[in-house]
Amino acid sequence: MMSELRERKSENKQRYNVDERDVQYFSAFANTWWDDTGELKVLREMNQVRVPFIRNGLIVNNDPEYWVEGQTSNTLKGFKILDVGCGAGVLSEPLGLYGAEVVGIDPSKDLIEAANNHLSKTKETHKLNVSYYSETIEEHVMKYREKYDAIIASEVVEHVVDKKAFLKSCIEALKPGGSIFVTTLNKNWFSWICAIIFAEFILGILPKHTHIYDQFISPGDVKDMLKELNCRTIKILGWRNEWFWSKYKFQSNTSIQYGLHAIKQAKTDNFH
Ligand SMILES: C[S@@+](CC[C@H](N)C(=O)[O-])C[C@H]1O[C@@H](n2cnc3c(N)ncnc32)[C@H](O)[C@@H]1O
Repeated sequence: MMSELRERKSENKQRYNVDERDVQYFSAFANTWWDDTGELKVLREMNQVRVPFIRNGLIVNNDPEYWVEGQTSNTLKGFKILDVGCGAGVLSEPLGLYGAEVVGIDPSKDLIEAANNHLSKTKETHKLNVSYYSETIEEHVMKYREKYDAIIASEVVEHVVDKKAFLKSCIEALKPGGSIFVTTLNKNWFSWICAIIFAEFILGILPKHTHIYDQFISPGDVKDMLKELNCRTIKILGWRNEWFWSKYKFQSNTSIQYGLHAIKQAKTDNFH
């Protein structure tokens, strides 16, 4: 089975550090990404933890687990956020509804179109500063260096071939003192069983072949890569999917899914 999974995502790259087959795979769900019953609805559900994780990483908040879909505030007003690999914008929009200026980029034109379509509908009732572009982080950072207060790479590094090069470009787009948030799947036998065997093949929470185990990465490895890129990791937190009632919950155990928050140091800062 593993060889079949690997074969599906075999080498077919045209743009640097982009697995074109992987991008096509996600593009196939473009029209249903925002649906309550869509194949990737789990990404929207994951906002229950990743939105507060990001929000509370950027500001001090007394209510760390609280977020409901459609919630609006000016909490993140003044923050410029880049959502790298934004897909159809299911995470970009909630951050925009908190008042942040959000730029979402994704290599898939179809997903950017889906993101813009949904944004137009949201703008009928809400004022928000969100824009989307179809490009890779490598292309984006050539134009915008040290521009953002925060970079989000949520559920993307497990789809990127050269993770270190990807993170390097992300950090180049970040201002010194800014925050990077990475959310992804840990790499161990338990995450393989939960995220691939159970989620994709037994429970059908995700479409089959969404993930390849070899692409998973431990929080320690992300932390080490970011340290080499002059970033200090300040928080790693786990979460779990309680699939039977569509809830995500924080937990200290990071063995399956986790979020990592690191700060880009000024060049002179020393840390270990
Ligand atoms: C699982 S989706 C996550 C989408 C979004 N971040 C979310 O969590 O809702 C992975 C996304 O990563 C994008 N992607 C894949 N390779 C990428 C790369 N090298 N740079 C940026 N985005 C990439 C895909 O097009 C896809 O939209």
